[in-house]
Amino acid sequence: MPKRSCLAIVLAAGEGTRMRSATPKVMHAVGGRPMLGHVLDAARSAGATRMAVVVGPGAEATRRFVDGTGYPAAIHEQTERLGTAHAVLAARKEFAGQDDILVLYGDTPRITPKTLKRMRRALAGKADVVVLGFRPADPARYGRLIVDGKRLTAIREFNDATTEERAIGLCNAGVMGFSGKAASLLRKIGNANAKGEYYLTDLVELANAAGKAVVALEADADEVLGVDNRAQLAVAEQLFQDEARQAALEGGATLVDPQSVYFSHDTKIGCDVIVEPQVFFGPGVTIADGATIRAFSHLEGASIASGAVVGPYARLRPGAEIGPKARVGNFVEVKNAVVDAGAKLNHLSYIGDAHVGAAANIGAGTITCNYDGFAKHHTEIGAGAFVGSNSALVAPVTIGDGAYVGSGSVITRDVADDALAVARGRQFDRPGWAAEFRKRKAAEKTGK
Ligand code: UD1
Repeated sequence: MPKRSCLAIVLAAGEGTRMRSATPKVMHAVGGRPMLGHVLDAARSAGATRMAVVVGPGAEATRRFVDGTGYPAAIHEQTERLGTAHAVLAARKEFAGQDDILVLYGDTPRITPKTLKRMRRALAGKADVVVLGFRPADPARYGRLIVDGKRLTAIREFNDATTEERAIGLCNAGVMGFSGKAASLLRKIGNANAKGEYYLTDLVELANAAGKAVVALEADADEVLGVDNRAQLAVAEQLFQDEARQAALEGGATLVDPQSVYFSHDTKIGCDVIVEPQVFFGPGVTIADGATIRAFSHLEGASIASGAVVGPYARLRPGAEIGPKARVGNFVEVKNAVVDAGAKLNHLSYIGDAHVGAAANIGAGTITCNYDGFAKHHTEIGAGAFVGSNSALVAPVTIGDGAYVGSGSVITRDVADDALAVARGRQFDRPGWAAEFRKRKAAEKTGK
């Protein structure tokens, strides 16, 4: 990629009425990341050195999200929604000194860096304006691209198009690139059209009239899918999942039933990982080579080291770090806890705000009582410790290395290394008591 400055303007002022949502449209997630995040990521990967996100009034969640990305991005408010050119001009302060300006939509989350780079290459070559076209199965109400040889002469909005123009199959995807020098033409755009809006698409005719080179590139329809409603959001999600599954398979992971495994935008999965059916990866999961995720498990914000086995029916929450060859079995929940190599949490446990030492054995039903209603407290379980089944470890508490906790204990004090702690009612036995009890009851019944 040539070293050229690049401003990406992302239009996100749409009201998203058809989403029927209190959440701004571009903040709806695909693969666990807001659509806007996907668009900004693509722009960044295509070398955008500056980003401008155009939002409508308010849009607090969108503002917070953009701030949190850490990208060189600014928010610009479009107070009135007067059309796509008007929206782009809301960010005009950013134009100065930019070689390439890309306009993207925040609700088109499948756009790829590859396509944006193609557009930038066109701008680095002869083109002054480059428009992304596609051929939808149903061209419906999209703007039509009118080409003459290699030249794009105009984009005609559906409402303003003649019958012949409406017969054109090549449509405007909405993504446009222009050189910083061509940006001054935006101010000439008027609103004398069927909708009375300032159309960005008019830049094409104005640039042609000014003797500039205007070209169209084509993309796959799937890549430029716009999301206006929940059904289209679901389509975008499916496209994302199919791509993520394919990438995992190509990366050397076995997905026993790929269609039933759900990934997030940032799932990292090594080779020789086996993922059984019905597994959901929320954001922030890393799985090292050779780990196994068994069926019906739900993981987010977790890392799983090589050779570990998680599930079936396990839940790993943020901060779960599962060490090499550790085992987290059925109906075990782990949150904000480091589980060292070879430790076993095989059944029915809650381990939260804890450290489990190497090769420790946590019996079925063990609970770390980490919360006192006000604050969270830490539980430390030493290497090689053995916690008997159905124990409650009341944090803050430490179970020493190699210590032994008797089953059914409620541990409230620290247990020293290699010690035994039993904290439960003592067992007593009365030989023959049960037989006598039955006899007495039978006698009461018969009255003898
Ligand atoms: C636009 C294009 C059309 C193209 C289609 C692809 C124009 C005039 N038309 O039409 O050629 O085929 O996209 O989807 O550009 N937006 C704002 N502020 C505004 C207006 C729009 O931020 O004042 C944003 C919207 O949130 C949306 C995008 O721009 O993300 C497109 O706006 P929309 O009104 O949906 O444009 P279309 O009529 O679909």
